[in-house]
Amino acid sequence: MKIICTLFITIIFSAAALATQPSIYGENGVVVAHDLEACEAGIEILKKGGNAVDAAVAVSYALAVTHPQAGNIGGGGFMLIHMADGQKVAIDYREMAPGQAHRDMFLDDSGKVVPQLSVRGGLAVGVPGTVAGLQLALDKHGSMERKKVMKPAIKLAQKGFTIPYDLAYSFGWLNKAAEGFDETRRIFCRDGEIYMPGETFKQPDLAKTLKLIQKKGNAGFYTGPVAEAMVKSSSKYGGKISSQDLMNYTAKIRKPVIGNYRGLEVISMPPPSSGGIALISMLNMMEPMVFDSVGWHSAQHIQMIAEVEKRAYADRSVWLGDSDYFDVPQDKLLSKEYATLRMADYDSLTITPSDSIYPLNDKDLAGIELIGQESEETTHFSVVDKWGNAVSVTTTLNWSFGSYVTVDGFGFLLNNEMDDFSSKPGEPNSFGLIGNEANAIEPKKRMLSSMTPTILAQDGKVVLIVGAPGGSTIITTVLQVIHNMVDFGMPVHDAVNVPRFHHQWRPDVIHYGPGSISPDTMVLLEAMGYELVPRYGYGEVNAISRDKIFGGWVGAPDLKTASHGAAY
Ligand code: DON
Repeated sequence: MKIICTLFITIIFSAAALATQPSIYGENGVVVAHDLEACEAGIEILKKGGNAVDAAVAVSYALAVTHPQAGNIGGGGFMLIHMADGQKVAIDYREMAPGQAHRDMFLDDSGKVVPQLSVRGGLAVGVPGTVAGLQLALDKHGSMERKKVMKPAIKLAQKGFTIPYDLAYSFGWLNKAAEGFDETRRIFCRDGEIYMPGETFKQPDLAKTLKLIQKKGNAGFYTGPVAEAMVKSSSKYGGKISSQDLMNYTAKIRKPVIGNYRGLEVISMPPPSSGGIALISMLNMMEPMVFDSVGWHSAQHIQMIAEVEKRAYADRSVWLGDSDYFDVPQDKLLSKEYATLRMADYDSLTITPSDSIYPLNDKDLAGIELIGQESEETTHFSVVDKWGNAVSVTTTLNWSFGSYVTVDGFGFLLNNEMDDFSSKPGEPNSFGLIGNEANAIEPKKRMLSSMTPTILAQDGKVVLIVGAPGGSTIITTVLQVIHNMVDFGMPVHDAVNVPRFHHQWRPDVIHYGPGSISPDTMVLLEAMGYELVPRYGYGEVNAISRDKIFGGWVGAPDLKTASHGAAY
């Protein structure tokens, strides 16, 4: 009976896996993203002669239509580009604090953080960056006009698309959660008559906004009727964004951070993301470790990685923030010497309690608990073209559906990215992440992110494009995909789809995904002193790797979340 059951489960699992495209192979271009429509938008642009940057802009706008939980024009993100000629560029279109923001804006008179004030409603909204960022990417490294690359998204908004189960589920959830946010419920929940899976979802208001952007570029969004409506809608819910804030928003070109792990070049996102620095710093700490005889996800393995992760997140809490406002010791944190120093107290047989891993000499951060969690959403996609140009994009409204404020009459949601600041030094945000002076709120500053769009290259040629959503788990997710491939020889599809675990220094626990740690391994870890906490929803990785046998590209969507890919 047991054998039959196992066989049955295997068949069901395989069928489900096939339905969600296990891996995709292409020689001329591959796109891996949350929705099939968005992947197809990218492929359409590639087929018309566009490069990976053109396709990435098309995918981004398409996700703003098909994936309103995270795809956006009212949020922000990061685009990492590796052009075939070797140029490496990071485009920062992270949201900025409004000019009227101030350090204590989320505290009450007694200096306590007011729950939810930085998470829902107008004060949670940062000045959106996506439209400016996509334009900057197109201007600097694209080859097509905005008019063309926005076409697929506008068509999806006008003609609609079939609502998949996961989106219908999210809309149903939003219908209850967004009580009082009437425009949000009107657009996404049909005023309470929730959408069923399989229905067609048309967004005429969003189509109108996209057309304005298509015609006028940044001016169509950051000035004029859309900008006016953004100011009004956010202020209706207590927000402080002004037309000046919108007019002055700029996306920035940044120099990616670059490291080296076992001969591979690791290119990733610099501040205002913590992702690149923390990722490279963890890889540096891991490089002296030998994994040859270590069993994957054995107690020994989990101990090694958890100890590395803890140290990097402790450093994150003190040293990382917007480098335009805080002097981030980037070179030091990225150096192999620092990694050696950081691991000096590592003992391969025991736990180092988080209490004794204070970031350098800061001893004031003990005893902080993770506050309640809810559904979370960000989205990552990867693109490669026939010339070998590669693009890695992570974009977000922060939490699922952002601040819940939809811009009246224009059909799009505003982010709740202000929660990524440290509302009060030493207090955790909604991801349990602790920040300090480096990430304190200041007018026009960019809040610290964990988003980690990353590209790996060997001898100057791209071999992996990777990134993930998942709040604080983003960085350890990207780390584990790279680690699975480099140290355990997994093909990209396995590296993306095996379960993961996570330690972020505070709280002092190992979070683990379903099936990640076997019960007897847990006993061994607990005997060492680790506390283990289950966690669902480990970030949807959407990766592409160079195929060593056939020479083309393999797209690996995350099957845990029914993600997609397309190729040609
Ligand atoms: O920038 C950040 O790190 C967060 N705003 C990302 C949020 C996120 O990933 C939500 N969930 N998947």
